[in-house]
Amino acid sequence: KFDGLALTPPMGWNSWNKFACNVDEKLIKETADAMISSGMKQAGYTYINIDDCWHGDRDSLGFIHPDAKRFPSGMKALADYIHSKGLKLGLYSDAGSQTCGGRPGSRGYEFQDALTYASWGIDYLKYDWCNTDGLKAEGAYKTITAALRKAGRPMVLSICEWGTDKPWVWGPAVGHLWRTSGDIFNCFDCVEDHGTWKSWGVMQILDKQDGLRQYAGPGHWNDPDMLEVGNGKLTPGEDRAHFAMWAMLAAPLIAGNDLRNMNQETIEVLTNKNIIAINQDVLGIQGFKYSKLNGFEIWFKPLNNGNWAVSFLNRSAETKKIDFNWKAEKVKDEVFQKELNADAILYKIKNAWTGKSVGTTKSSLKTEVPSHDVLTLILEK
Ligand code: DGJ
Repeated sequence: KFDGLALTPPMGWNSWNKFACNVDEKLIKETADAMISSGMKQAGYTYINIDDCWHGDRDSLGFIHPDAKRFPSGMKALADYIHSKGLKLGLYSDAGSQTCGGRPGSRGYEFQDALTYASWGIDYLKYDWCNTDGLKAEGAYKTITAALRKAGRPMVLSICEWGTDKPWVWGPAVGHLWRTSGDIFNCFDCVEDHGTWKSWGVMQILDKQDGLRQYAGPGHWNDPDMLEVGNGKLTPGEDRAHFAMWAMLAAPLIAGNDLRNMNQETIEVLTNKNIIAINQDVLGIQGFKYSKLNGFEIWFKPLNNGNWAVSFLNRSAETKKIDFNWKAEKVKDEVFQKELNADAILYKIKNAWTGKSVGTTKSSLKTEVPSHDVLTLILEK
């Protein structure tokens, strides 16, 4: 979709992971304020996205209204507030008759809803896939795309059909990002079984990205789901690993925690400027897994100007020693035709987390990575 939106992965916040259906205008305004006071806006976060359950009923003419108890000032006033802060407002709907939370879906009302969102000043739409019996994903998402286009207001479209119908194949022409899997679960390495469906730990979601990188690029991104950083279940090292890997994946960075109550560690992870720069690199190339051995993975991501990001991810229970000989390794990105050639080129190395210089690729990298943590470096020509 070449409309100039989401040329780098969208950055923002979404209510679902932390608040589920407990959304109201007070929370949204306070979150916008906190996005500014915490330094997140400064770091690049823009979208404040309300997920499921903002809806009231449709009126007799079919127009959707927000829940009047939770959003007494209305969506237009809320959007005005968000815009006055230099931020953007996102909403959520569903391609089916009802949202997953049982609120009115957009099926049969696509064009009317798109007009309503445009009249409110909405900037981003996440479009879910519950209660869609008889619908085909590609067609249903094309309908809402056509409706948004007709409504005339530029909106980022987030396709949320959980990777069921290979959205990476048709998604680039239809939306700006598409979920590649079911929901994230707030754990580092586990699967949560809900009986009829499962949700996935951070590492399980990471594994589901294999084979998809060729589909991502400026304006159209694989979406491994929203962040669990700062939601209280991951250790600081796991939060770092989660955030760094989402950056390596060129994934949308949509925070899912309570921005009003963050400890310093969480703020430092979410606003780390070098990690964000890896994510927001203009080439928009999704990183790749270079090697994997006994719970230890090495990932590379080509960056602009011939630079590279590399992450040493320790998924195992033990500390891992690294002895990495840059010159001897043949790091090649076959899909995007890039080569890291430390034999011919001397790269300076920076620790992305600390910003400190840690030598060059002339000598081997000798260090260690604690269990459930990551070491992320930037190699500069
Ligand atoms: C399913 C989606 O995958 C979640 O991200 C969230 O939007 C919920 N639906 C809301 O009901």
